[in-house]
Amino acid sequence: MVAVTQRLFFDCDTGIDDSVALIYLLARADVEIVGIASTAGNVPVDVVTANNLAWLGLCGRGDIPVHQGSPTPLVADLMTTEDTHGPLGIGYAELPAVTLAAAPGDAADAWIEASRRYEGELVGLVTGPLTSLAEAIRRDATLPTRLRRLVVMGGAFHAHGNTTPVAEWNVAVDPEAAAEVFEAFGTGVAPDPIVCPLDLTEAIALTPDHVVRLAGVAGSHPVECPDPADERGLRSVSDNDLIRDLVDALRFYFEFHADHDEGYIAHLHDPFAAMVALSPDIVATVPARIGVELTGTLTRGMTVADERGMTGPANARIAVATDVDAVFDDLLDRIGTFARTWAAR
Ligand code: RIB
Ligand code: CA
Repeated sequence: MVAVTQRLFFDCDTGIDDSVALIYLLARADVEIVGIASTAGNVPVDVVTANNLAWLGLCGRGDIPVHQGSPTPLVADLMTTEDTHGPLGIGYAELPAVTLAAAPGDAADAWIEASRRYEGELVGLVTGPLTSLAEAIRRDATLPTRLRRLVVMGGAFHAHGNTTPVAEWNVAVDPEAAAEVFEAFGTGVAPDPIVCPLDLTEAIALTPDHVVRLAGVAGSHPVECPDPADERGLRSVSDNDLIRDLVDALRFYFEFHADHDEGYIAHLHDPFAAMVALSPDIVATVPARIGVELTGTLTRGMTVADERGMTGPANARIAVATDVDAVFDDLLDRIGTFARTWAAR
């Protein structure tokens, strides 16, 4: 029995890479996921909730409460991206029918409750828009001071945006929420968030060879290697349910990236942020004050990093470097081992 050494609250807009992040977190026996917040983003919030519940059901973790957030951002109309993550946000995966129910209480109240229950030890991880966390801070401004650590996947500083030329998806969906969350830090009282931007997360590019390695660790068969020449939507026939569903989800993501001239790869933004949340020493960071453009015609949702104190004290640490090979070694080993042991249950 592995002792729990970290407690984490996971706020996500479960899509494909959020799904991989969730499975990675479940594979970490040393981590207790004390709660999950479903936030609207990649897909509508009810679909995010269904995806979280479906993955938890598949993995026998109905004990983890899933709380649903607002159906819309703080101010903006909701935009979703089914073309990126599939009509239901999990690519081609067809998960078992959801039998679990969402927990009572919305995502914002769940943030507040978790921060109070685990004051000083709670690690917060956000891999979707910051809507739920911003609403939680509106309801309880002292929330940041009770966190041990906060890691956010979001923003782009010296990299092209993936939603507009200058905006990254999680920030672009709800720029007001991102602005309010960053404004809540830099006080010297709460630990400033570690922000994992596209500049770094796009280096975490899963390839078909990684999928082969994953099957090897899991001991699953046949060992499948997705190929751009495969017919679109080809389904996995792996003898391991979890590997099969992950491969079906990832194949959609491979096809999306290939269709957008990124190559037949899959950017694993969110699993990387999850690894940083648990082991922040895997990244080099630089302090900066992050601001979010809210009114620019071309620049709304742009994240601006002030590294020289021109606009106030630093309110974040931006992750700028990591050992990509070590990231994949950990990711594939943890998830493959989890799939192997879960299949043998
Ligand atoms: O920009 C990438 C981020 O937006 C990832 O978290 C992805 O899941 C989407 O939410
Ligand atoms: Ca996400």
